[in-house]
Amino acid sequence: MAQVENKNDVLLEVKNLKKYFVIDKTLLGKPTRFLRAVDNVSFTLKRGKTIGIVGESGCGKTTMGRTILRLYDVTGGEVWFNGEKVSDISDKEFDKLRPNMQMIFQDPYASLSPRLTVGEIIGEAALQHKIVDKEHYKSYVLQVMKMCGLQPHYYERYPHEFSGGQRQRICIARALALKPQLVVCDEPVSALDVSIQAQIINMLKDLQKELGLTYLFISHDLSVVKHISDEVGVMYLGSMMEYGSKESIFNNTLHPYTKALFSAVPVPDPHVKMNRIILKGDIPSPINPPKGCKFHTRCEHCMKVCEYVNPEYKEIEPGHFCACHLYNSEEEQKTLTEKALELERLAEIERQEIEAKQKEYEEQKFFGKVKIKTLGFLKAAKREIVNLFKKDDSNG
Ligand SMILES: Nc1ncnc2c1ncn2[C@@H]1O[C@H](COP(=O)(O)OP(=O)(O)OP(=O)(O)O)[C@@H](O)[C@H]1O
Ligand code: SF4
Ligand SMILES: [Mg+2]
Repeated sequence: MAQVENKNDVLLEVKNLKKYFVIDKTLLGKPTRFLRAVDNVSFTLKRGKTIGIVGESGCGKTTMGRTILRLYDVTGGEVWFNGEKVSDISDKEFDKLRPNMQMIFQDPYASLSPRLTVGEIIGEAALQHKIVDKEHYKSYVLQVMKMCGLQPHYYERYPHEFSGGQRQRICIARALALKPQLVVCDEPVSALDVSIQAQIINMLKDLQKELGLTYLFISHDLSVVKHISDEVGVMYLGSMMEYGSKESIFNNTLHPYTKALFSAVPVPDPHVKMNRIILKGDIPSPINPPKGCKFHTRCEHCMKVCEYVNPEYKEIEPGHFCACHLYNSEEEQKTLTEKALELERLAEIERQEIEAKQKEYEEQKFFGKVKIKTLGFLKAAKREIVNLFKKDDSNG
């Protein structure tokens, strides 16, 4: 794990977090197939800092955020918040912590109740959690609104009267009214115009400084992540492929997947030649992810070892983690390649056995059909002969 100078600096620690969705069950309800949306993810988030999480659509970013906040049950692993293990406490106990951990969603249209006024939307939960009393309610809500760039006369108005950017400000105000320590921002600006995006991002940065907030910031947009994050995590098919400080991830990119993602970002300078790495094929299904390195089906550096052995997620340089066989020592590579060759041999034996069984089954099926047809034919012939004799008897 990353060197942590002082345990009190750490607000959130995620250890080998797993979230599997059950997608098939037996008649008796026993799960038979899983979708591994989050698979063994670990990282540490310090107070007042921002971790940016990037990765292609469907790699598990939202599921990870929701699982940390216990909006989904944790399948495995641990979540520690303020030095307390919160992944296995009861829902009732977790509810007491909920105001401390808030989430801002991508769609500011869907996440606001159309029947409540802005004042009610922002203050209702704060009142419920006794963060403010009835007497000071309005002044408190107006203060939070001001912090989030919302005019006081919006207080009595309804969400449908506002633009996307203003609605997202209302969502942010609703989260901040609960005085959270951690805010999970799930693509908070991707539904907004570019000019509005910058305003919201800058506001989030200012609020972070002012209130000492800690952000888990999920985004597709690498330039936004670069702007707002202190540390960056890159996810692929539910796993963390690379993780480190923003500088190390952007200036000393290690993982071939991260390199491919970064190569797709357009450079504004026409004199700079783009060396775009085109990823081959589609993202594999998280229901049946590739064996070995999950990225091997699309990686231009794929070696034999990658097809059979899952690379260890390890610290390559201080605080910079990566899961890739390119960074094995010579000795590790030799041992793992031998292991891969052995696994390949076993896989080939298994393949041949399956093929032989399949052939046997096909043959049985074929002869079964021939037998049934022959029997049918013989029975029909017998019937014909019996009928002939019957006819002869009646004639004679
Ligand atoms: N409730 C659910 N039940 C079953 N599968 C789910 C559920 N929610 C998400 N998934 C699956 O989990 C995987 C991860 O989804 P998730 O929404 O976390 O990805 P994401 O990285 O946030 O994608 P995007 O960038 O498109 O928002 C996907 O394969 C998705 O289909
Ligand atoms: S482990 Fe192999 S396949 Fe996976 S990213 Fe590294 S080089 Fe590519
Ligand atoms: Mg998402």
